[in-house]
Amino acid sequence: MTPETFIAECRDCIASGGGPADIAALVRAALVSQRDDPAWQGRDEFLYRSAALLIVNVTLPPHGATPVHDHGMWAVVGVSSGCELDRFYVRGRDGGLDVVEDITVPAGTAIAMDADAIHAIFNPLPIEMRGIHVCGGDMVSAPRNMWHPQTGDMLPYDGKVFEEWCEALTRAARPAQAPAC
Ligand SMILES: [Fe+2]
Repeated sequence: MTPETFIAECRDCIASGGGPADIAALVRAALVSQRDDPAWQGRDEFLYRSAALLIVNVTLPPHGATPVHDHGMWAVVGVSSGCELDRFYVRGRDGGLDVVEDITVPAGTAIAMDADAIHAIFNPLPIEMRGIHVCGGDMVSAPRNMWHPQTGDMLPYDGKVFEEWCEALTRAARPAQAPAC
């Protein structure tokens, strides 16, 4: 399946009233193609972007980590190679975050999450994770939130700051390297 075929399937699904469970089934069916089909190589991060749908060609570096964030809309996470660990949170009574669940998404599988989901992503393996993420709207421009990795404060999502936090968290998650000799 080419990316164009997958995009067309997702657009048709949304246009006919489909939701995250339907999109998750389409993502599961496309994962082998993303892993093996040369048509998926060298593609942009955003395969498709509209007001109703965002399709992301995702890579996460070895031991890559993100801060806690929400999406403001439903989302589907599929993994075609490597592994993604999703830690889910809810807002606690004191205004902080409580961990509710860890879900491992191994290669060849996909999960759907509700619009109110709050999570952080971690790649537990020393190899790149690759996958397909789909959101039920234009998450790039949608108002949403991120949580400061040290203070836990909730802040409006800022892509530049988020990327800086990702890099710092990923550096901290990597096993210490033996000095070259
Ligand atoms: Fe996310």
